[in-house]
Amino acid sequence: MGRRLNIVVGVTGGIAAYKAVNVIRGLVLAGHDVHVVATDAALRFVGTPTLEAISRNTVHTSLYEGVAEVRHVAIGQAADLIVIAPATANTIAKLAAGLADDLLGNTVLASRAPVVIAPAMHTEMWQHPATVNNIAVLVSRGVTVVGPAVGQLTGTDSGPGRLEEPEEIIRAALAVLQPKDLDGRRILITAGGTREALDPVRYLGNRSSGKQGVALAVAAAARGADVTLIAANLEVAAPSSIRVVPVISTLELAAAVQDAARDVDAVIMAVAVADYRPEFVADEKLKKEAVGDRVMLALVKNPDILAGLAETRRPGQLIIGFAAETEPDRDAMLELGRAKIARKNSDLLVLNRVGWSEGFGTDQNTIVMIDSLGAIVMEASGSKQTVADRIFDAVVARLA
Ligand code: CTP
Repeated sequence: MGRRLNIVVGVTGGIAAYKAVNVIRGLVLAGHDVHVVATDAALRFVGTPTLEAISRNTVHTSLYEGVAEVRHVAIGQAADLIVIAPATANTIAKLAAGLADDLLGNTVLASRAPVVIAPAMHTEMWQHPATVNNIAVLVSRGVTVVGPAVGQLTGTDSGPGRLEEPEEIIRAALAVLQPKDLDGRRILITAGGTREALDPVRYLGNRSSGKQGVALAVAAAARGADVTLIAANLEVAAPSSIRVVPVISTLELAAAVQDAARDVDAVIMAVAVADYRPEFVADEKLKKEAVGDRVMLALVKNPDILAGLAETRRPGQLIIGFAAETEPDRDAMLELGRAKIARKNSDLLVLNRVGWSEGFGTDQNTIVMIDSLGAIVMEASGSKQTVADRIFDAVVARLA
């Protein structure tokens, strides 16, 4: 997301108000201008100094401050997006009724910006017909509801009603403003790294965490795509809104890809594939006494899934590979990429450098995308989410 947005974060009075601090912080760190509107009840749970320090802006609470600048409407008019987290049952009822007895109510009514709410309350309150009805009213007006999650509530009970995790609230809120340029498109993404069993307890594998692949799935879903994520041994969770097909080995991956690739518009092979698998897999745990001091492992080559996809692709289907290289020299790395895309015949290849401390497992990435002629299409650097979005800018342009 490139543009700096003016985001109003409404904080209302629930125990979960302390988690709003992380929502505000995440939005500020993502480069946005955040204005907090807190209800009086919210300020019983979290203090103004905290909200001001984290949002880096004055916190607004009263209808009767800033009257000369007509603040009760100015904040809402200037907003690109309104996020209310946590949203209590009381606030949800007031929003549904269109009440304007506090600054937050006025701000929402005075705004044309999309509204995202993250409810938090006890299960009984969330499931009460009054709340169910109020939520239905808000949804019918186009309000986006994030969560609530199911889990431990304040006190000893647990169930639906827990505030959704701050990262998920941020993701869902920013997704509202994303252009839906992949609407109606089906995208298949593979992520993680395959593992090949040696025996019931051991495997050969690689260090791919799946972070870049999950970021790609999140980015595609935010742009309106119907996403399938084939996940090989992920170290990170994919959002619950994404359809995930778990696999472990390369052969399982190959079968899942073949099945899912048939009617998609694009396939992105971000998964790191184990190129070889043990020829024999022991049924029981291998014992040192039986194996001896030196081990020779017989390995057989796995099929090249990407090359197979490119060979059988239907007209118009876009096939995108990833290439993880340890080559330190940029030009030499590009040459390896050019040879690889020629060998595999994909439409695009995303090159990224990996190493002991680079690429795999980190939150940042630097990539170069080349096309089938070897020309550089684009380069991107930053968080894996930013990189994912730049990759889709290029994919959208090609699909059009
Ligand atoms: N890939 C695949 N099937 C394999 C090996 C790789 O589909 N058996 C895909 C990967 O998902 C990735 C691309 O091919 O999108 C390149 O993977 P990479 O490991 O960089 O290339 P390799 O073909 O393994 O070549 P090398 O090991 O020689 O670098």
